[in-house]
Amino acid sequence: MAVEQTLTIIKPDAVARGLMGKVLETLEMEGMKIVGMKMVQLTKRGAEGFYQVHRLQPFFDSLTTYMSSGPVMVAVLEGEGIIERLRRLMGVTDPQKAAPGTLRHRYGISVQENVIHGSDSPETAQWEIGYFFSQMEIHSRPVNSG
Ligand code: RTP
Ligand code: MG
Repeated sequence: MAVEQTLTIIKPDAVARGLMGKVLETLEMEGMKIVGMKMVQLTKRGAEGFYQVHRLQPFFDSLTTYMSSGPVMVAVLEGEGIIERLRRLMGVTDPQKAAPGTLRHRYGISVQENVIHGSDSPETAQWEIGYFFSQMEIHSRPVNSG
């Protein structure tokens, strides 16, 4: 399986409830390598840009208001099959339907306040990483450098 990168966001509800450490610990315990990370607060415009794929959804205004309501932790994770592995560890969108052991099942409050974001394909991962990070902020090692 190919080494991939994905973008994750610890969402405002989780940062506000002091869950950054727990979420990051879980990612690292699962062997997911953090190669870039920073805390930012999105503007409403910034959240609208990030979630433009959902601009026609009825929840778009609520989602982008929520995502700009407080600081988030954005991170780039790297590893084999990391996009799919992160999605599995997150659980499905609705925390009430997420499988036991997933982050959203453990810590999620609602369909909107669901702790964590993860890119859903290699194409969106590259676009989402570029939305937040410059190359200087990504500390990736070449695959065969020991
Ligand atoms: P994410 O993009 O954040 O990783 O989550 P996801 O793929 O599981 O869900 P997606 O369909 O991409 O939706 C993005 C985020 O929008 C909020 N949402 N609210 N009220 C609603 O019906 C609704 N549906 C989605 C959630 O915060 C979801 O994670
Ligand atoms: Mg999504």
